[in-house]
Amino acid sequence: MKPQRSRNPETPNTETPKKKLRFFFILGRNPELSRAEILAYLQARNRTHKEILFNENILIIETDDNEKFNIQEFGGTVHFGKITFEGNQQELKKYLNKTEIIPSDKFSYGMFGNESPETLKEIFKKRKKKATQKHGKNQIKFQDGKKQEFPKADFYILFHSTSPNTYHLTPNPSSSARVYLGIATQTYNNEEVKKRDMQKPVRRESLAISPRLSKILINLSGAKPHTLMLDPFCGIGGILQEALIKKINVYGIDKDKQATIDAEQNLKWLIKQYKINSTYKIENKDARNSPDLQFFAIATETPLGKTLRKKPNDNEAKQIIQNFEAYIIPILKKLKKVKKPSAKIAITFPVVKVFHTDAKKIAEKTDLKIHTNPILESREDQNISRDIIVLQ
Ligand SMILES: C[S@@+](CC[C@H](N)C(=O)[O-])C[C@H]1O[C@@H](n2cnc3c(N)ncnc32)[C@H](O)[C@@H]1O
Repeated sequence: MKPQRSRNPETPNTETPKKKLRFFFILGRNPELSRAEILAYLQARNRTHKEILFNENILIIETDDNEKFNIQEFGGTVHFGKITFEGNQQELKKYLNKTEIIPSDKFSYGMFGNESPETLKEIFKKRKKKATQKHGKNQIKFQDGKKQEFPKADFYILFHSTSPNTYHLTPNPSSSARVYLGIATQTYNNEEVKKRDMQKPVRRESLAISPRLSKILINLSGAKPHTLMLDPFCGIGGILQEALIKKINVYGIDKDKQATIDAEQNLKWLIKQYKINSTYKIENKDARNSPDLQFFAIATETPLGKTLRKKPNDNEAKQIIQNFEAYIIPILKKLKKVKKPSAKIAITFPVVKVFHTDAKKIAEKTDLKIHTNPILESREDQNISRDIIVLQ
């Protein structure tokens, strides 16, 4: 029996409550999908979190933990940082007067959020700082058609309020707008990810998924380091590659023999290049024969059918969707059997014109639950878009 520790009556028996911290994420071109990715990531790790704000491409969350995020883990986040100020306009004024928000005398900065850039300009001027606000040459077009600047700068500032009231030198004291301010501490390193994607031995545009979408699917599936994840349509191994980088053991299946040879070559290269200890297995077989290994997670990009050279008419579009539904149902039934009961399947379903794959029908027929409703991922230059969905 363990010896009982005598309790000192002086010491209160309550654990010190964990410090709550708020973090902001500046999301990329599909904010809804990026938000789902972050929330799924936290949920998979049982990290207590609360969503504080989601507005356009800004997500603010509260967690108990200290900063333990690595932005490279996510596919859809561009900047990340801690909220250093939160309060009303009057408190903001006091904060800005006493705090040096950027510890440098000469710098460039980019701003995100709806607060007036003039506020910071005035503050920097008052402090005699040579601060230049940068604007993005390349604007990112979002799913909803809106454009957003993504400037390149020394510092990235989130300056956002819950109401469009902007701060003036004489703020309205009755204003209840909640202002959030923070400086990004991490920025997504796209160069490194691109390098990894471009340098792999075998590339095939028609089969390859972007590293961004690969990471998003992996995070949505709930896969974590040292667990076993399946990609039943692995192609040349795009998703598997990003999963291995995340220390996940992977199993890939593809019915195309050449694709499996290429995937094998790509993964071998990756393991050597990045000194990866996680394991992989690739098999040339049909997804309907997936091995019963009780996978911890499944992340996959389904074949969306033949590349469409011209826009199909409505009947053709409906037919493509119907064919896909008939094709994917038996495969999902099999996948349900080879996964742990709690395991999730993050998968893409085709969308042609306005016609979506019927996720509800598929869930019913396969006896799977819809864990995350379909989120559209579209590109104007493509005739087929995708819905990203998580089944359980
Ligand atoms: C869109 S690609 C996946 C691309 C992959 N994410 C990558 O980055 O390379 C779809 C793949 O599914 C494979 N496929 C189609 N039907 C299949 C089936 N029933 N079983 C296994 N693989 C299948 C195709 O050969 C193709 O390689």
